[in-house]
Amino acid sequence: MKKKILVTGGTGYIGSHTTVELINAGYEVVIIDNLSNSNREVIDGIEAITGVRPAFVEGDCTDIATLRNLFTSHPGIAGIINFAASKAVGESVQKPLLYYRNNLVTLMNLLELMPEFGVRGIVFSSSCTVYGEPDKNPIDETAPIKAATSPYGNTKQISEEIIEDYIASGAPIKSIILRYFNPIGAHPSALIGELPVGVPQNLVPYLTQTAAGIREQLTVFGNDYSTPDGSCIRDYIDIIDLARAHVIAMTRMLDGADTDAVEIFNLGTGRGLSVLELINSFEAATGVKVPYRIGERREGDIEKIWADPKKANEVLGWKAEVPVEDTMRNAWAWQQRLGQSL
Ligand code: NAD
Ligand code: UFG
Repeated sequence: MKKKILVTGGTGYIGSHTTVELINAGYEVVIIDNLSNSNREVIDGIEAITGVRPAFVEGDCTDIATLRNLFTSHPGIAGIINFAASKAVGESVQKPLLYYRNNLVTLMNLLELMPEFGVRGIVFSSSCTVYGEPDKNPIDETAPIKAATSPYGNTKQISEEIIEDYIASGAPIKSIILRYFNPIGAHPSALIGELPVGVPQNLVPYLTQTAAGIREQLTVFGNDYSTPDGSCIRDYIDIIDLARAHVIAMTRMLDGADTDAVEIFNLGTGRGLSVLELINSFEAATGVKVPYRIGERREGDIEKIWADPKKANEVLGWKAEVPVEDTMRNAWAWQQRLGQSL
């Protein structure tokens, strides 16, 4: 029988792509999402790609009664992937309680219900933001956690601690914590992708909207950093590579008999790209020019960070594979499908 997985935030960017990979790998998926940052048409996209329509519950994970009803009406859930969270760094500074409540109460509700409903494992979406500005790159999982620079970042650090403390207390569950670097791109079918609300804060959606003529010009936030071309460096990871890692993590938790109860993995390519290099790779891959200017540094930006993904490569047997040019073409195809509507 197919194992049943609950994907919270499953109509969101990473959740929708992961749902596709879970279905392709033979899992049955139940999604819960409150549609605060996504819409239900995403389910149609998932169905069009996979031929399977996942069960969908519109509901809020901060409401424990809603979750209890879900576990009761969908018995036999073996594992959870918890994507549901608020994720805008700037907004979290303006509305810290919203971020602490949404991100932490969601996690605590899920953890509390897992033993009651016999759910064995939870994959948690963390972020390389927990490392702050690294002392050295590439950065591995043993690097120190630095003081968070936003309430959003702090929710990731606290969430990791909550999971560790709960499991240390003897809770009969396992967890894999995945620290994502910078997820970008879209499904190659262009049927699902990232849906930024309003003016995008992140580089790739802003870039593709500029290429489409929706934004006049991309601003490169600073070219006076201590990097080869002066712009900031990140580890951009293709969304399908990222989604695949969740399937591997879930299978390891559910089927791996003697794995540690909590494991942490970086998910990145191991290669750092500057903002200017990323713009160049978009132009080379698509043949489309991106008008840009060099602007001021953005407050709070990390200068350079890229992953040492060795642990995920060796322990999970997972490796980022999609070349950045393919990722850029997929991001552009998705933007074209969205059209001028944003
Ligand atoms: P997203 O906003 O596209 O997806 C999150 C989904 O969760 C949305 O569909 C939203 O409607 C839903 N949601 C939010 N609060 C909810 C609640 N209380 N109950 C039910 N549904 C709720 O974001 P994403 O980029 O797919 O991110 C997924 C996870 O990965 C988040 O936890 C995020 O913090 C983490 N993450 C993202 C990035 C990134 O760059 N995208 C990087 C590191 C970590
Ligand atoms: N950038 C620009 N112009 C823009 C937007 C971004 O030059 O219009 C630059 C930024 O300065 C940075 C790089 O592009 O150097 C990437 O910026 P993003 O905003 O896309 O990504 P960040 O690395 O700043 O942060 C993202 C998420 C965080 C998450 C982090 C690590 O927004 O929530 O990745 O996963 F914590």
